[in-house]
Amino acid sequence: THRFVLKKTIVMIGMMGAGKTAVGRALAQLLDVPFLDSDHEIEEAANMSVPEIFARDGEAFFRARESEVINRLLSGQACVLSTGGGAFLAEANRAAISARGVSVWLDADIELLWNRVKHRDTRPLLRTPDPKATLSALYETRVPEYAKADMTVPCAPPVAIEQMARRVAEVL
Ligand code: S3P
Repeated sequence: THRFVLKKTIVMIGMMGAGKTAVGRALAQLLDVPFLDSDHEIEEAANMSVPEIFARDGEAFFRARESEVINRLLSGQACVLSTGGGAFLAEANRAAISARGVSVWLDADIELLWNRVKHRDTRPLLRTPDPKATLSALYETRVPEYAKADMTVPCAPPVAIEQMARRVAEVL
């Protein structure tokens, strides 16, 4: 049989709420490759949730674990890897990702992001007096880094996860 072989890990990047995990999962299924999620791996290893890690050990500690996990996962079998929203901001992470992977930025507008994250209390960076303004400011400062991704997928509503995954698969 002529089996499709994925040679580079597809790394989903972009803001919290952009759909990196949902689209990444659908894409992995479409390509019949494993799906991994860096936040999930960090949580498993620490036996704590992301908010707990931030609260107990701080963001710098989380970022160090995040870099380790990304490096470890990139050195394994090619897969679809969903990363946390801050992962692509560190130069070292971008270098590791571009050496072994293809980065895909899910670029969703701020209203869409806010609608996705506002009901959840799982994002420590949004625990501020005005989380929507914080989200918006984070987006603005991060766009120049996200824009360095190999591929940008604009996500405007109505967004169908399957359709987004197919769009990425077509371009690959
Ligand atoms: C973060 C995003 C989160 C998680 C952590 C920090 C960020 O992941 O890694 O709360 O800096 O944007 P998601 O993008 O999966 O929400």
